[in-house]
Amino acid sequence: MITLQSLLGIERAIIQAPMAGVQGSALAIAVSNAGGLGSLPCALLSIEAMREELALLRAGTQRPFNVNFFCHAPPTPGPEREAAWRGALAPYYREYGIDANTIPAGPGRGSFSSEIADALEPFKPAVVSFHFGLPSSELLARVRGWGAKILCSATTVEEACWLEARGVDAIVAQGIEAGGHRGMFLSEDLTTQVGTFALLPQVIAAVKIPVIAAGGIADAKGVAAALALGAAGVQVGTAYLLCPEATTSAVHRTALKSERARHTALTNVFTGRPARGIVNRIIAELGPISSDAPAFPLATAAVAPLRAKAESRGSGDFSPLWSGQNASGCREIPAAELTRALSGDP
Ligand SMILES: Cc1cc2nc3c(=O)[nH]c(=O)nc-3n(C[C@H](O)[C@H](O)[C@H](O)COP(=O)(O)O)c2cc1C
Repeated sequence: MITLQSLLGIERAIIQAPMAGVQGSALAIAVSNAGGLGSLPCALLSIEAMREELALLRAGTQRPFNVNFFCHAPPTPGPEREAAWRGALAPYYREYGIDANTIPAGPGRGSFSSEIADALEPFKPAVVSFHFGLPSSELLARVRGWGAKILCSATTVEEACWLEARGVDAIVAQGIEAGGHRGMFLSEDLTTQVGTFALLPQVIAAVKIPVIAAGGIADAKGVAAALALGAAGVQVGTAYLLCPEATTSAVHRTALKSERARHTALTNVFTGRPARGIVNRIIAELGPISSDAPAFPLATAAVAPLRAKAESRGSGDFSPLWSGQNASGCREIPAAELTRALSGDP
């Protein structure tokens, strides 16, 4: 089977996980220049901001990089659910002096679209990755037509087979340890979600394309273990969060460096979809899974002003402190150094 390095044109089988909200082009450039695959997450970027970041990437590296998108079906807003959610948040609005009537509703994260493809096309990225399934077959064919290799997260064997049947070039097998959103898309049943080293061999046995391990991998030994199980490479997120090139907020950095980082949960209170983050006040009091939270990504808007107010006071009580279960690899070192360390270089 083709190696991940030759498939993607990289030196090291290390992919820096795309992490919306905590990084832009700077982290991706550093990792790509170090021989790994840097990733630009676009889920939270406007089209104009995406263009600017892509221009910086093009200027900053000659090497391949990955551009990442969410592929969720746009939700239908439900006024009753929105009202229930704002009702659950009402005590906090009072505590922070926020007038709930001034908070706009609306989506917090966009899905891959033909407008995005139009803006992306001139940059012809070497790799495009998707989370929450794939775009329409027309859009996917368009991206493939530029010569991009396609990656997508799978959280079950069934999802991996579904992706292989639609022609993706490699699968990111995302174990339950992983920080951020579960990439699950064929089922909403959390009992289907398993650990990285349970998922990886099952996916490898079920598909013929390269499989990339993601979730809980934080050092060279973890990388070696994934490769020993047959992974073609790894995708590492949490370990990069303290690198100076990441834009991780001060409250997030403080939490990652503290004992609290040992307490993570899968929660839907920030966006409406299960995602792993460090347990904070809103998760402890309303979650981790709340039946009031509107469908992804509609839960975001009502929490946003609480997050802003709390952060302005130095508190991460209402911030998504995304982290995987293994934050032990988080180091305040340049991303190039971390990339080399992950692949076992001294
Ligand atoms: C802060 C954070 C943000 C994330 N955002 C994204 C994203 O925008 N797109 C995506 O495909 N995956 C995202 N992920 C999930 C990663 O792709 C990957 O599955 C995960 O980081 C691997 O587990 P680890 O964090 O234990 O290394 C995010 C993860 C974290 C920690």
